[in-house]
Amino acid sequence: MSQTAGKLKVDFVNGAVGHRLRFGGGRGQALAKAMGLRAGKTPKIVDATAGLGRDSFLLASLGAQVVMIERSAEMHALLADGMDRAFQEGGAFREIVDRMTLLHGDAKDLLPGLNSEAILIDPMHPPRKSSALVKQELRLVREIVGTDDDAADLVRVALDHASKRVVLKWPQKADPIPGIRPWSHQILGKSTRYDVFMVG
Ligand SMILES: C[S@@+](CC[C@H](N)C(=O)[O-])C[C@H]1O[C@@H](n2cnc3c(N)ncnc32)[C@H](O)[C@@H]1O
Repeated sequence: MSQTAGKLKVDFVNGAVGHRLRFGGGRGQALAKAMGLRAGKTPKIVDATAGLGRDSFLLASLGAQVVMIERSAEMHALLADGMDRAFQEGGAFREIVDRMTLLHGDAKDLLPGLNSEAILIDPMHPPRKSSALVKQELRLVREIVGTDDDAADLVRVALDHASKRVVLKWPQKADPIPGIRPWSHQILGKSTRYDVFMVG
């Protein structure tokens, strides 16, 4: 494990993720809306860029089955450890983790073999000028995985294999990723935007 991975921990029970679980806004949150979660509608989700698993955990806490894909061996190990600890915590945490399945590999290779209704893509974006403001945690993730320069290819593969929608999460102020077809609609969060590509 690298020195950086030693400083990072996936913690679904305490901290920001646990807080959001207790006080979050349910299916009205921008991510949930973007993924198509509504009353009576819970799509099968693939999170193609699992990272620290926060988005997957939120979606699973709202009742969705989520298959998570992570290609970095270090991030995958951190995720597996975090899921394990949340499972051991029991109660609601165990129920949520039971809805999450973690895979190791490149989503471009694995998506064709999965049956997904909605695919989430949240690539590591290039550092911006205000990098001092970038959260410490995300800076550490970037030290491990670098920048995901193949995001446009991943979106194209996802569009070929989702039955309902593909959602690209991207900072509101960052330049758009070139080479991707126009989105169907956008959902704007505080600093993040969700470009939703409807399929079929
Ligand atoms: C910005 S982070 C995702 C953060 C995540 N949404 C969360 O809530 O914690 C991007 C992650 O996606 C992974 N990733 C990027 N492209 C990938 C691909 N093609 N297949 C699998 N994992 C990928 C990176 O290794 C990195 O860990």
